[in-house]
Amino acid sequence: MSFVLHRDLRKPPPQLARGDGNYLVDAAGRRYFDASGGAAVSCLGHSDDRIGAAISAQLSQAAFAHTGFFSNDPSERLAERLVEAAPEGTGHGRIMFVGSGSEAMEAALKLVRQVQLERGQPSRTRIVSRRLSYHGNTLGALAVGGHAGRRAPYEPMLAGCDFIDPCHAYRYRGAAESERDFGRRMADQLARTIDEIGAETVAAFVAEPVAGATLGSQPAAEGYFQRIREICDDTGVLFIADEVMCGTGRTGTLFALEQEGVHADVTTMAKGLGAGYQPIAAVLASEALCESIERGSGTLWNGHTYMSHAAACAGALAVLDVIEEDGLLANVQSAGRYLGEELRAAFGQHPNVGDIRGRGLFWSLELVRDRESKAPFAPEDALAPGIKTATFRRGMLCYPSQGCVDGRRGDHVLLAPPYAVTHGEIDMIVERLEDGLTDALEAVQHHA
Ligand SMILES: Cc1ncc(COP(=O)(O)O)c(C=O)c1O
Repeated sequence: MSFVLHRDLRKPPPQLARGDGNYLVDAAGRRYFDASGGAAVSCLGHSDDRIGAAISAQLSQAAFAHTGFFSNDPSERLAERLVEAAPEGTGHGRIMFVGSGSEAMEAALKLVRQVQLERGQPSRTRIVSRRLSYHGNTLGALAVGGHAGRRAPYEPMLAGCDFIDPCHAYRYRGAAESERDFGRRMADQLARTIDEIGAETVAAFVAEPVAGATLGSQPAAEGYFQRIREICDDTGVLFIADEVMCGTGRTGTLFALEQEGVHADVTTMAKGLGAGYQPIAAVLASEALCESIERGSGTLWNGHTYMSHAAACAGALAVLDVIEEDGLLANVQSAGRYLGEELRAAFGQHPNVGDIRGRGLFWSLELVRDRESKAPFAPEDALAPGIKTATFRRGMLCYPSQGCVDGRRGDHVLLAPPYAVTHGEIDMIVERLEDGLTDALEAVQHHA
């Protein structure tokens, strides 16, 4: 019997024995190729000694000191490195390091509230977010998340939030609409919502530059985020870019928003930043925001015990070093193009694959019962969990989820392979996914 409170209390998962490059090995010696980095975390595989060595070296110097007393060298160097690489417009921003994506989102929400207060705008309390988004599982982050199913049990405990539709071409773009017109129309929903509820009540808009866990690796239409930036500037609403999943190189650039040609007022990063070697997340505040605080109270009102953890920051610095030294962003771009092509070749005509979307090494298939009508499978068919089980049985991790249509219906499977993935490995991923999908669809038909 296990005393760990597992996700599934009836069926604990197998025990992990070790990581071996891009594979995880269980206690029975079975090997699993990690094609999704768990949940888009392990971007450098599972046994890069350079990161372990950097963490050990820091631990031998100092493991931890509370930030109320000391700063430390790894956090200072990591902050400088990220600020220097941040999209133009961020200026000399500053960074707070915390332990997880949800914690970073909580901190981001509190930060925008603090800045609005420091700027003499106390009525700005509301957050506008997007449907079918995911921003984390703590109550504050869940409150701004647009996944109806995940929210449902906690709804009475969640703070209010206003939602607009996501920029999701497969289900929202008109047949005759150009990509630019579509992007403009979706972004203008923000302008309308701000207008309806009153700009003087809105603290911030939050969005994932490339939507991840709920919708499945959905990049925005061209011009969408430029229009979002304009709307935020015109209305004094701050823009929070949640790059917890899509950032740190996952889509081919260190910051996902770089590719949209705009900056955010607050950017959160997490998963790829620690690459799973240490839990770490970052909240980057632009120079303009930091100035408001410096001129105002001069203090950061939000704090956590493990902020700027020295060993975690040393690990993240080593992750950035490896990405740079091994030229991995170039591989994310080229291998990402190959993965997209191979997915289209394998699944483009598949009767149950409605959409194939992604950017960099961040790709998803959306599964449908009927391609013509785009009708999803019923949630009870449990297709996404079935794909997870089937591919796992075939020795591969991928990341399937339900709810991409309306928070309950809709199945997608997300791939987020390691940044150094080879073409040969991509061929294997596609093959195992084809087999896993066939198994899972057969199981659904069998039960129908
Ligand atoms: C975009 C986004 N934001 C926030 C989070 C929450 O991060 P964590 O699970 O580390 O708390 C996630 C996790 O999947 C995410 O994808």
